[in-house]
Amino acid sequence: MSEPVFVDVSAPPREGTPVVIPPAVPAITFGGRDAYPDDVAGRLRTDADAIVARYPQARSALLPLLHLVQSEDGFITRAGIEFCAARLGLTAAETAAVATFYSMFRRTPTGQYVVGVCTNTLCAVMGGDEILATVREHLDIEPGETTADGRITLEHLECNAACDFAPVVMVNWEFFDNQTPDSTVDLVEDLQAGVEVTPARGTGPVPTFRQTSRILAGVPVSDHDDGAGS
Ligand code: FES
Repeated sequence: MSEPVFVDVSAPPREGTPVVIPPAVPAITFGGRDAYPDDVAGRLRTDADAIVARYPQARSALLPLLHLVQSEDGFITRAGIEFCAARLGLTAAETAAVATFYSMFRRTPTGQYVVGVCTNTLCAVMGGDEILATVREHLDIEPGETTADGRITLEHLECNAACDFAPVVMVNWEFFDNQTPDSTVDLVEDLQAGVEVTPARGTGPVPTFRQTSRILAGVPVSDHDDGAGS
């Protein structure tokens, strides 16, 4: 019978070793308005009722409801968090936890078009880093910022599983494949000039950010949505 082998996996604590307490992580907060006016709340309740009715349990409707409230202000506000929580019987903390997990939900005012440049490995080596640098310089904004005219918010994106078409740029999550710095500058210039742009896949012009949010919520793009994203 072989002898047992003992492996020492950790050093014993040494007396006098100072305990290092990591710095506190800043709390994630939501800005914007605290509550909706009655007319807006009423309109959102009608849309929310239609969404919630599609699910056997109300809380399953949280993701489309977050898109719905995002369509109202162009980002998730405190009012949006409270609205979703109240409608679904969740706490604000539970709702905020979901809203902060997914990068599609934004916490700051957003332009009419979110232009995302993929800078993950394949896109980066195929030119994504160069595209992002060129567009940053052209628009004179950093990722996460919005142009002064409110038209474009620039972001760098993680891989969108479209590596075959690298480097990839997205506008409101619609794909623009095989981009170059020049083609992306043409794209953002068209968006700023109000020229309709058509994605590489799918049909029709790319909707505004708020219109896209309503589509993702599964409700019609309504008359009140003027397409302004901020
Ligand atoms: S690395 Fe850009 S889509 Fe995959």
